[in-house]
Amino acid sequence: MKAFARTRLTLLASATALALFASPLSAWAQTPLVIKFSHVVANDTPKGKAAEFFAKRAAELTGGKVKVEVYPNSTLYKDKEEMEALQLGAVQMLAPSLAKFGPLGAKEFEVFDLPFIFDNYAELHKVTQGPVGQMLLGKLEGRGIKGLAFWDNGFKSFSANKPLKNVDDFKGQKLRIQSSKVLEAQMRAVGALPQVMAFSEVYQALQTGVVDGTENPHSNLFTQKMHEVQKHVTVSDHGYLGYAVITNKKFWDGLPADVRGQLEKAMAESTVYANKIAKEENDAALEKVRASGKSAIYVMTPAERLALKKAMVKVHTEMASRIGQDTINAVYKETAFDPNKL
Ligand code: LMR
Repeated sequence: MKAFARTRLTLLASATALALFASPLSAWAQTPLVIKFSHVVANDTPKGKAAEFFAKRAAELTGGKVKVEVYPNSTLYKDKEEMEALQLGAVQMLAPSLAKFGPLGAKEFEVFDLPFIFDNYAELHKVTQGPVGQMLLGKLEGRGIKGLAFWDNGFKSFSANKPLKNVDDFKGQKLRIQSSKVLEAQMRAVGALPQVMAFSEVYQALQTGVVDGTENPHSNLFTQKMHEVQKHVTVSDHGYLGYAVITNKKFWDGLPADVRGQLEKAMAESTVYANKIAKEENDAALEKVRASGKSAIYVMTPAERLALKKAMVKVHTEMASRIGQDTINAVYKETAFDPNKL
């Protein structure tokens, strides 16, 4: 095991021991109350900016009673560890991608990974900002987690060292994915070889050729410098990547009601902010990738996109028993998606 990984785990174990003995009320005895908000992306991304915005508004609205410390770029924990750290009380807030809830047992969240299920942000918001989104957040409660909000990132592009235009181009490509069975099925549907990997390891895996390519919104691609180690980017908008902001339920319920209300207000404002900047940030990141000249950018034609959709849409049926047909139907109803009408 690498030294830094050992240190992380030792830190997690000590934090855990402390957390087990510390009740939410003893945490409150310190002033200001510190909320550790850990995430895996750069500060200069939709999620990074929204986390900073939340920290600022939380301090303002609580009159300094709450201090939110944001730890970006996996500096505190990587993907899997951060979920464990939240459940154990070593951190109080996260915003993992919706593709990362399956290992927690909340497989319904993988509905967001179904290829081509949303055509645009307006359709997506009918789900995330409406009753279906609330129902999904509610599913986390039994796992000691309180779901606070959905924050946007955006629609994914593919990157690789060869142009990915036609379905055949994907055959045999080793493509990094987040830990979602739906994304695994999506890649297999086009003959690619999916490799689950923590976000913090993607750049190096691309650089050393451990994987050939990946998928992500442009803000993640650019801020992790993936475009510097990928020759081609294909704008495909084939799927969505966004977040659920979550907290430790015991911690949240233990907060004084007035403080909790102020934090809820800060979160509501941060959600509006996150969802306002996400598209602009991703569009700007694509322009920065273009300006760097490091990757050739190819925008799929409507015919190429349709061919990709036809190849991938079977994943909706294949994954129905995992996600739950009821959840899939609830999303279809909001967005008027019809898998039989391509
Ligand atoms: C990824 O692992 O690719 C993303 O979930 C990272 C993120 O948090 O946007």
